[in-house]
Amino acid sequence: MKGARGGVIGVGGAAGGGLMRTRLRLPVVLISCSLFFLAGFFGSLLFTQDPQAAEEVDLPARREQLLEAAWPEMAYGESGESAPSLIPYQILSWQPRALYFPQFATSEQCDNIVQVAKARLEPSTLALRKGETAESTKGIRTSSGTFLTANEDPSGTLAEVEKKIARATMIPRNHGEAFNVLRYEIGQKYASHYDAFDPAQYGPQKSQRVSSFLLYLTDVEEGGETMFPYENGENMDTGYDYEKCIGLKVKPRKGDGLLFYSLMINGTIDPTSLHGSCPVIKGEKWVATKWLRDHTVY
Ligand SMILES: *[C@@H]1O[C@H](CO)[C@@H](O)[C@H](O)[C@H]1NC(C)=O
Repeated sequence: MKGARGGVIGVGGAAGGGLMRTRLRLPVVLISCSLFFLAGFFGSLLFTQDPQAAEEVDLPARREQLLEAAWPEMAYGESGESAPSLIPYQILSWQPRALYFPQFATSEQCDNIVQVAKARLEPSTLALRKGETAESTKGIRTSSGTFLTANEDPSGTLAEVEKKIARATMIPRNHGEAFNVLRYEIGQKYASHYDAFDPAQYGPQKSQRVSSFLLYLTDVEEGGETMFPYENGENMDTGYDYEKCIGLKVKPRKGDGLLFYSLMINGTIDPTSLHGSCPVIKGEKWVATKWLRDHTVY
């Protein structure tokens, strides 16, 4: 898959280079033991539980227990965590830098967020460039949505998700804008755009959006993909039509997260971070977006 790699945040996948052959033995033994342990564990689940009970197994919690058993905790400082955590991710692309987080939220958490947002939906709006008006930009973004801060959600779900986003990105919570919860019905879309604001087009900015975290709140039967038309620098010189749904397409899956960076490491806007939402063809798409900024928001 074009060099994409899965990984686990918080477990330090970076094995130090230059290990001597003799020193490899202990890790190899440890890894083998862990693998046997995992295989045994899941094997026993298969054989000892009836199907009804197996459905009730809380997989993310189980995985975290396994992980804690396999990787004993490190000494930690004042603000650290007492044990390793498991937040699996897959790198989707390096240009733009995009990561996928399967099962980032539970199905119940997704339902809670939709529930809270439903009562407050309004047609989505755009940040306007110089010279643009609401009328001239009609049709670019046709979803409905609402902004929600974590403490506007009485179920506490948005706070939980916000904390987890902060842990996964190590960008503190107070760098995040309020959640923008969006609903796309059949035919609704968001033409390709940047989340960062180019001062040349939008005027001086007090702070900039560094990255965006999208949490898909529903499965979408057909369409509704998040697309990156300029992945790997492709389609950039071809007079790309911003309405067109091309390039890297990420199919929404309930509970999964997508993180991508709008800025390059040196702080300039990454041209390949252009993205949009393909029209929903069948079903309904709900997504919660959190924009993370380089300055604190509150
Ligand atoms: C920032 O980094 C990009 C990619 O490495 C490079 O193309 C660009 O020229 C850099 N911009 C500045 C202002 O250094």
